[in-house]
Amino acid sequence: MTPARESGQSALDLGVSFAGVSLKNPIIAASGTFGYGVEFEDVVHLDKLGGFVVKGLSREPMIGNPPPRLWETAAGMLNAIGLQNIGASAFLTEKLPRLRQIKNIVVFANVFGYTREDYERTIEILNDGEGIAAYELNVSCPNTSEGGVQFGCDPRSLDEVVTTAKRVARRPLIVKLSPNVTSIAQMAYIAQESGADAISLINTFVAMAIDPETRKPRIANITAGLSGPAIKPIALRMVYDAAHAVKIPVIGMGGISTASDVIEFMLAGATAVQIGTASFWDPCATEKIVDELQNWCADRNIARLADLTRGLVLE
Ligand SMILES: Cc1cc2nc3c(=O)[nH]c(=O)nc-3n(C[C@H](O)[C@H](O)[C@H](O)COP(=O)(O)O)c2cc1C
Repeated sequence: MTPARESGQSALDLGVSFAGVSLKNPIIAASGTFGYGVEFEDVVHLDKLGGFVVKGLSREPMIGNPPPRLWETAAGMLNAIGLQNIGASAFLTEKLPRLRQIKNIVVFANVFGYTREDYERTIEILNDGEGIAAYELNVSCPNTSEGGVQFGCDPRSLDEVVTTAKRVARRPLIVKLSPNVTSIAQMAYIAQESGADAISLINTFVAMAIDPETRKPRIANITAGLSGPAIKPIALRMVYDAAHAVKIPVIGMGGISTASDVIEFMLAGATAVQIGTASFWDPCATEKIVDELQNWCADRNIARLADLTRGLVLE
């Protein structure tokens, strides 16, 4: 350990806060890549993370898509899990009681639906659960009442779903934006004006892979979501664009796998970040990035990490 690290660590403040939620550091495990948290209990010190977002929850359980559902690409991963989950009620009875026993953790509940009423009902169910810090609204789902366009890709649908969620939510509301849009700045602004307390971005890019030998798609669903380091530069640009369009806090994600990736996202405008695909190649990635971040700051005599948010130097 360098002297800078030794002397810097006690004074070092990695804490961040957004939407009334305080975290000991900005590292949050991303939805769909960290189960319901309990599955990682023996692998990661959950209380070392800023927090984690549980798998997307719906009003009823869902079995998801048929396999194959995952495919590794150059520097990334395709997934079409199909939002498999146990449903909001079972989360409250089967997972949350265990999570409540673990001290000093912050749990975010990711919520999705296919109609506005789905989102409304799921949040109403979760409102009864204790130990959830905030909701993260996944708006990257097809709106089945409006011809199947993703909520997050249509300004009017986005406004309606966020307004509905905000009306029923008894906790802070983070709106997780879809990157499959022309103007992320416009969508970020709509989310803010419709009541979001914070935004998070990005979700996966719609993508595909084909086996040239069999001539079949690699994923049974044909199209899938692309994540991992392959998307990082685009995610960073989108976080930058979104952060400059809104006043509410921004949580950045997309391909983060090192502490310096985290710093890039914070400089672009993120208050906190999420780590997704990195946990697939190293289940301890989230915890390791917290350690790395601590050393990164200590080595540079940075006393307060939160000061880096929006710190991009342009001249
Ligand atoms: C296997 C898998 C499942 C996912 N499931 C969800 C989900 O249920 N809800 C959601 O909002 N995002 C989901 N995501 C998207 C991630 O939370 C994250 O936004 C995206 O993967 C980009 O971050 P990354 O490059 O660090 O993985 C999923 C991603 C993967 C790889």
